Amino acid sequence: MLIESGSPVAADTRVGISLTINGQRRDLQVAPWTTLLDLLREHLDLTGTKKGCDHGQCGACTVLVNGTRVNSCLALAVMKDGAEITTVEGLAALSGEGRNSLHPIQEAFIEHDAFQCGYCTPGQLCSSVGLMNEGHAKSRDEIREAMSGNICRCGAYTNIVDAIEDVMGQGGGR
Ligand code: FES
Ligand code: FES
Repeated sequence: MLIESGSPVAADTRVGISLTINGQRRDLQVAPWTTLLDLLREHLDLTGTKKGCDHGQCGACTVLVNGTRVNSCLALAVMKDGAEITTVEGLAALSGEGRNSLHPIQEAFIEHDAFQCGYCTPGQLCSSVGLMNEGHAKSRDEIREAMSGNICRCGAYTNIVDAIEDVMGQGGGR
């Protein structure tokens, strides 16, 4: 698949990369300056991942790269060649119960009313899964600290921490 970003790109400047995105392998030809965020949103129609600041300051663009949370606005797609990418669209499949079942953290966000407008929510969800994969945060304060890169303008922080604590209490999700 040919990916162009912005103005026309000479064929010899494109770089071939291969990514597994939400379980599906994609072979892509990308302009070297294409961010992972733009690749997902503008070229692959995975618009669940949001662009907020585009400068690494809000966390709206958080996705999982090989299970680690990453600000996709700061990552060039070519730097992730060979990686497994999970976006909010793919979180449900991580539950192991198929795409029609929500991931436990998604269920917990609903149960705990952990969003209002929802703009930050895809990033909050991916960051929450990354946090649980890391296994460092144990207390509410540690969860808050570890989630501090994800800004919520609606101020749903308390309920977000409630949701994460809930899933961690169930064994940390999947
Ligand atoms: S859009 Fe990437 S951190 Fe804000
Ligand atoms: S729910 Fe609105 S920005 Fe977080």
